[in-house]
Amino acid sequence: MTNADFEKIVDTSDEWIVSRTGIRERRIADNGISTSDMAVAALRQAIDMAQCPHDEIDAIIVGTITPDYRLPSTACVVQEKMGFPNAVAFDALAACTGFINGLSIARAFIETGTYKKVAVIGVERLSSITNYKDRNTCVLFGDAAGAAIVAGDTNGRGILSTFMKSAGNLRELLWMPTGGTLNPYTADFTYDGSDKLTMNGSEVFKVAVRQMCDAAFRVIDKAGLEPSDISLVIPHQANMRIIDALRKRLGVTMDKVVLNVEKYGNTSSASVPLALDEANRAGRIKPDDHVLMVAFGGGLIWGAALVRW
Ligand SMILES: CC(C)(COP(=O)(O)OP(=O)(O)OC[C@H]1O[C@@H](n2cnc3c(N)ncnc32)[C@H](O)[C@@H]1OP(=O)(O)O)[C@@H](O)C(=O)NCCC(=O)NCCS
Repeated sequence: MTNADFEKIVDTSDEWIVSRTGIRERRIADNGISTSDMAVAALRQAIDMAQCPHDEIDAIIVGTITPDYRLPSTACVVQEKMGFPNAVAFDALAACTGFINGLSIARAFIETGTYKKVAVIGVERLSSITNYKDRNTCVLFGDAAGAAIVAGDTNGRGILSTFMKSAGNLRELLWMPTGGTLNPYTADFTYDGSDKLTMNGSEVFKVAVRQMCDAAFRVIDKAGLEPSDISLVIPHQANMRIIDALRKRLGVTMDKVVLNVEKYGNTSSASVPLALDEANRAGRIKPDDHVLMVAFGGGLIWGAALVRW
């Protein structure tokens, strides 16, 4: 869906969208494609790349705010579709920080010796919760999936450090007020868009810049590194201006930042693994590179992970 497509449905312009966000296009899944279908498509490619036999996957963690069902988890549906016989599967809800959250859990499993190989997926069908009458939000979001296989390594490579934090008191800055147990749909529910994403963009923007920077510096410090040691930054692709503010505060040049927000918009938990995969397949990540991933989302919740590749 291009900016020109949005000009036809809400009062907006290509110039406004590009100058405020950097977004030009987003991908929208066809009707009938479920979140688990997208997760499976991504996970198949990750499994192929890792050359990992199906019976070696110990856990499947799915980060998503757009699950197939409220029960069971999308991860369980993915397990059934992929046929991983020995895995536990569950969703971990952390909005746009979902993939970082999954990496943190995978790292804990591996470091405690609980599991050896963990599939972490970030997947969203945000078009299903986007209000296409609200110009404040609809131009921002797209659908996508990304996946990684996390495994232990004895050569000092892997996830060196993670950090996550949230501020539940700010939850109304980015949320879906209706449809849960507190405000359930009733027979007299009048459609007002409150079952879709609503956001106070300018307030979210300020917290996002501050906290993504804080999370980034914390994981760099925890790993005993300096910002100058970072080979590649993979930020959550929400907005070009947020990414640029983060880059400047970290003191890294633009060639060290992975950018694809222009093509996909904000794909929530899928955005970091999608950018990671594009950078990897483009040959931008070499063995022993320090890769910094950092994200922020509704909760509010934010976090970062530092990986030695
Ligand atoms: C959403 C965002 C791009 C808006 O940019 P902004 O500079 O903060 O703009 P504001 O919200 O102050 O709105 C300015 C004006 O633009 C208007 N506007 C909002 N969306 C618009 C659109 N798609 N097209 C044209 N005008 C729009 C607003 O109605 C407002 O008009 P008004 O002044 O007449 O009331 C920006 O706040 C942002 O990126 N925030 C972070 C959002 C985010 O990344 N969220 C996800 C985190 S995971």
